[in-house]
Amino acid sequence: MSTVKKIGVGVIGCGYWGPNLVRNFLSLPDCHLKTICDVSNERLRHLKGIYPSVETETNYEQMLKDPGLHAVVIATSVRHHFPMAKNSLLAGKHTLIEKPLAASVEQCEEFIALAKKQGLVLMVGHTFLYSPAVRKIKEILDKKDIGVIQYISARRLNLGLFQKDINVAWDLAPHDISIVLYLMGEFPYSVNCRGAAHITPGIEDVTSMSLHFSQDKTAMIQSSWLDPKKVREMTIVGSERMIVYDDLPAQEKIKIYDVSVKAPRHYDTFAEFHYAYHYGDIYSPYIKQEEPLKTECQHFLDCIRNGRTPLTSGTKGLDVVRILEASSASIKLNGAPIDLPKAGQPTRPNSRPPIPFAGGSNPPMRSSTASPFSETKSSKPSGASGTET
Ligand SMILES: NC(=O)c1ccc[n+]([C@@H]2O[C@H](COP(=O)([O-])OP(=O)(O)OC[C@H]3O[C@@H](n4cnc5c(N)ncnc54)[C@H](O)[C@@H]3O)[C@@H](O)[C@H]2O)c1
Repeated sequence: MSTVKKIGVGVIGCGYWGPNLVRNFLSLPDCHLKTICDVSNERLRHLKGIYPSVETETNYEQMLKDPGLHAVVIATSVRHHFPMAKNSLLAGKHTLIEKPLAASVEQCEEFIALAKKQGLVLMVGHTFLYSPAVRKIKEILDKKDIGVIQYISARRLNLGLFQKDINVAWDLAPHDISIVLYLMGEFPYSVNCRGAAHITPGIEDVTSMSLHFSQDKTAMIQSSWLDPKKVREMTIVGSERMIVYDDLPAQEKIKIYDVSVKAPRHYDTFAEFHYAYHYGDIYSPYIKQEEPLKTECQHFLDCIRNGRTPLTSGTKGLDVVRILEASSASIKLNGAPIDLPKAGQPTRPNSRPPIPFAGGSNPPMRSSTASPFSETKSSKPSGASGTET
């Protein structure tokens, strides 16, 4: 038996994505989803109709004054993330911000420093890192079942939803970048990106980004709001096998192809040069059916309760924004490669000429005071590891 105090949560932004967060937090037994906030009374009325127990508020700064709220979730457009998250952290609330963490590296760095100073959990909604399919792929890669990663290619295409203030890379690519960084287990040394704005002047609706990693590993990420077909696909090519991950079907999201190709090591004449193709089975591993967003929401609560750094911490959010910022700089330079700086250094184009477009674990976080949500008796808290959800 244990007595666990429920964590009071407020959600800001009840547009397209916010209601999914509201539904999931309401379903978690150790959470009290207390307040929902939106400037639109229509959105609030709609959600109050579905969830009559929640309080509604149109002014988020007013909501932040509530001592009954321990945590705040921000699901508004990226331009609002900085003022909202900063005020939330200053008000002493643990803060979960939807992807992308903020509109610039500088803003992310300010959040991270502020959350550390306040001893608060700062988390970003890189939802796919809580997906059983992505976790399964990581497990396969860690066991070296497909050999050494050679490249990853990702396509996230759809008709819309057009955004007015960010381009398609900032809207859709955060998912792919976060998955790629997780699977590669390292940060790229450079990025180049090309894009075109067909519908809204100045806002690219189609982008193609390349990330360059050590030992010639690459990741190509294609994002589009201008495609007749919804596509959510990623291919991971290994030296021994290849994985195709399609997030759209309910079943068999991952297929492992036992195929490979090798060039001959030694040959004397051109006639002796033959590629060795291997064609084997295709199989689909079992994947547990779980809603990634529910796992993400529970992880946020677990991190608050146990004083842990989230799997998708502010620092991971900064990594993604660092790449997005560099990709925007590259678009302005017609796809010139941009060297990615180490943490704390500014992003600058490198000295190479433009090229034609070709296409760890965190330490546990600790606040200075004991978590008021700690269990008072017996049983070990769930999610004891910062990376377990
Ligand atoms: N994790 C995911 O898979 C996923 C999916 C979709 C969207 N998102 C992210 O969620 C965030 C929101 O996206 P969306 O598509 O729901 O946007 P949206 O425009 O549909 O909704 C935003 C809501 O915020 C409200 N709002 C604006 N200013 C406000 C203020 N000052 N106070 C309170 N409410 C305010 C708006 O009225 C609107 O209802 C974005 O960061 C987006 O990238 C994440």
